[in-house]
Amino acid sequence: MSVHRLEVALGERSYPILVGPGLLDGGAELAGLAAGRQVAIVTNARVDALYGDRLRRAVGLASPAASITIALEEGEQHKDWSSLNRVFDALLAAQFDRRCLIVALGGGVVGDTAGFAAATYQRGVDFVQVPTTLLAQVDSSVGGKTAINHPRGKNMIGAFHQPRLVLADTDTLASLPPRELSAGIAEMLKHGAIADPDYLAVLEAGMAQLRAGDAAALAAAVVRSCEIKAGVVGADERESGLRAILNFGHTFGHAIEAGAGYGQWLHGEAVGTGMVMAADLSRRLGLIDAAVPERLRAAVAAAGLPVEGPGWPAERYVQLMSVDKKASQGIPKFVLLEALGRAVVRSAPADLVHQTLRACSAAH
Ligand code: NAD
Ligand code: GLY
Repeated sequence: MSVHRLEVALGERSYPILVGPGLLDGGAELAGLAAGRQVAIVTNARVDALYGDRLRRAVGLASPAASITIALEEGEQHKDWSSLNRVFDALLAAQFDRRCLIVALGGGVVGDTAGFAAATYQRGVDFVQVPTTLLAQVDSSVGGKTAINHPRGKNMIGAFHQPRLVLADTDTLASLPPRELSAGIAEMLKHGAIADPDYLAVLEAGMAQLRAGDAAALAAAVVRSCEIKAGVVGADERESGLRAILNFGHTFGHAIEAGAGYGQWLHGEAVGTGMVMAADLSRRLGLIDAAVPERLRAAVAAAGLPVEGPGWPAERYVQLMSVDKKASQGIPKFVLLEALGRAVVRSAPADLVHQTLRACSAAH
């Protein structure tokens, strides 16, 4: 398997995404960025134990200057102020200056937190994403959204700050537990559903290999998902329009994550169920016929993801969704399907939203 090189085209903020095996050992791009700089690797203890030494060696060869490792607490419940402050405390204690480089080694929790630290430390420093989960390789490491959670809403405090480089070493996927592989497949199904029905069909046909961790199937999907995401981000970096389609399934999904308590549902699990709900709502609005939500529901289930939300009253979901970033003055908006591969953003009548929530959540 060879290394694929893609680009997020954003003028002077453009950057490469490298996808393939062996990338943790560094290479010309990482060496070029790290040379002569203070480098902070932000990670957590689990990922550090698995992959920290290899990355430290690569960084050390590139930069004899100071390098430190900052290990955050693991889990979505720690994507918060306290983890962010831990990064700032360590950078300040080691007297890191504004030329420093932050390298995020881990999943989306580490990437989003380290990225937000990079966006704000001394008004912004360079950072590199080294994603080690499937979800982070296919989605969160690309596009420059960085954030921490607020108890009232997911990703509510953050900034747009593009990385200088994304190194997706597909070998790291071999140590992922099955539940985390499924969570990543949710974002891949999302890319197929909103942008590329042929890709969706490839995912459906290859589901058994993907779930079994087949290296070639996973690497091909990481490449295709990154192509789709890079294309959308290149066209609308700050989500003034098109980029919102990447939030398919997220209005419902973020409500589930925040409402259940961060970390109870994995992000990908909540997105999986959220996509089932959004497709159901699209049908109730008459945008698509029943075959589409049925097909998506089957694909989400085949990925090993839940297809029903918690059995809360619809009012509770609606209350939680009013804090979504797409909401306008508390009225939620949804990414809906007009066809497989074509998404739109709009609000929906409350009675139809309630019907969807009742139909797609566990009986209560
Ligand atoms: P995560 O970061 O919590 O990682 C999942 C688990 O896998 C963790 O326990 C982690 O320690 C472990 N892990 C990481 N790499 C491993 C490896 N190679 N082997 C074994 N274990 C490993 O979860 P995630 O699914 O990667 O990311 C979810 C987060 O990403 C959410 O907070 C979500 O909001 C965010 N996200 C952000 C964007 C964006 O554009 N910024 C997009 C999608 C999702
Ligand atoms: N995950 C949504 C986005 O990157 O825009």
